[in-house]
Amino acid sequence: MPLYRLLYRSDIALSPEASPLDQQIEAIVASSALANTRDNLSGALIASNGVFIQALEGPLTALETTFERICRDLRHRRVRLIELAAAEERAFPEWRMIRVNNKEDVLQLCSEFGLQGSGRPDALRTSAIIALMRSVLVSNARVATGAGFPLHG
Ligand SMILES: Cc1cc2nc3c(=O)[nH]c(=O)nc-3n(C[C@H](O)[C@H](O)[C@H](O)COP(=O)(O)O)c2cc1C
Repeated sequence: MPLYRLLYRSDIALSPEASPLDQQIEAIVASSALANTRDNLSGALIASNGVFIQALEGPLTALETTFERICRDLRHRRVRLIELAAAEERAFPEWRMIRVNNKEDVLQLCSEFGLQGSGRPDALRTSAIIALMRSVLVSNARVATGAGFPLHG
């Protein structure tokens, strides 16, 4: 089945009064991982500097219906699709959904990629972003096992 990858950014609109932001983000990741298992999707989420950046990959129909739900979600605003393109292979095969957590690298990504006003990054830049997200995850996984929601199991 052909594989596609989607990348978007949005402004975080969680309300800190409800519960700590990190807790709310972990809840989003956990329920997304469950839904993505059902839908054969995998991916990763950055939440930093007021911005979500999420990569999602899998069959096109599942991607489209999931992205429609994500766009309607009031926990973020100004959802902007950055790229939806065919992909050779999954960049995040190990994770149904995982938060990319590495302060320095992620902050760097967000400041470059907060995308205030700037146009769409080209395909080369988009794949550099995906590669950086993956490399942060892989290096984190070496130091902390058990994080995230693996594809199998
Ligand atoms: C930043 C963010 C990322 C999300 N990622 C996913 C995801 O990867 N997969 C998914 O099914 N839902 C994801 N959701 C949740 C959906 O927006 C939605 O709440 C969920 O699919 C349930 O939709 P429903 O209430 O219309 O059934 C995400 C929500 C947010 C705010």
